[in-house]
Amino acid sequence: MAYSGPFQPGDRVQLTDAKRRHFTIILEPGEAFHTHKGQIAHDEIIGSHEGTVVKSTLGADYLCFRHLMVDHVLSMPRGAAVIYPKDAAQILVEGDIFPGARVLEAGAGSGALSMSLLRAVGERGRLISYEIREDHLEFAENNVDEFFGGRPATWDPRLGDLKEVTVDDLGGPVDRVILDMLEPWECLEVVRDILIPGGVFMTYVATVPQLMKVMEGIRELQCFTEPKAWESLVREWKVEGLATRPEHRMNAHTAFLVWARRLADGVTPPRPQRRARR
Ligand SMILES: C[S@@+](CC[C@H](N)C(=O)[O-])C[C@H]1O[C@@H](n2cnc3c(N)ncnc32)[C@H](O)[C@@H]1O
Repeated sequence: MAYSGPFQPGDRVQLTDAKRRHFTIILEPGEAFHTHKGQIAHDEIIGSHEGTVVKSTLGADYLCFRHLMVDHVLSMPRGAAVIYPKDAAQILVEGDIFPGARVLEAGAGSGALSMSLLRAVGERGRLISYEIREDHLEFAENNVDEFFGGRPATWDPRLGDLKEVTVDDLGGPVDRVILDMLEPWECLEVVRDILIPGGVFMTYVATVPQLMKVMEGIRELQCFTEPKAWESLVREWKVEGLATRPEHRMNAHTAFLVWARRLADGVTPPRPQRRARR
């Protein structure tokens, strides 16, 4: 599937009208897109560059771009809540997802994070995605396949409970583990057993009780570094002369991110000295 260059048949194209409304079409020679402002022949778009403006038969303008990954993630069908782009970006960098990495994620959910991880591990990497629910796995597979225009050779989606996974099931330890599930503390022993020494473990949890429980679980196992926790807040700005100000609305909370690294076997983690509470 092409990600740049002139439009080709089969491309998923986002048309944006003057009111910034989006319409998605898949280009097929001879087909037309019907709007209340007339028709647009797909053939007018095929062969032209992204960023082109096409006119409908009744004279309305539509801006044409291919879907970016964020457009796909925010518009695709969902079985489970997706990891939003702002958090996926944190996971890729803080989780140090490198080209060639062997990464395990669970649950696959709707496949949103899987797409970002697949791009980052590149052609030499491998992503194994566990999902306990068959219906969710189906959403993840359809969404990922649709985005990449087929099943990526580097992706191994599996139906199953992460709690039952062993290092042998994976053909050896993995470099990174990323969890997005309700009860990640139930899988910490599996994470310990499948993660290579030095490997990065991240988990994404929505509520404060989950955050406390998973942080304590990581500390208790004594095989990880002191875990870090944070959240990211992204606030858009309206920039229009004297009206320049933050947007009134934002996604104020999505989830917390938790991060730790696997220690070598038999090592006792140095713990920070905490002052006793008065
Ligand atoms: C919030 S969704 C994940 C969304 C996904 N990260 C995305 O961006 O589309 C959480 C998923 O974890 C799955 N899950 C929960 N416990 C699991 C387990 N023990 N093993 C595998 N999957 C699990 C759930 O069925 C659900 O689909």
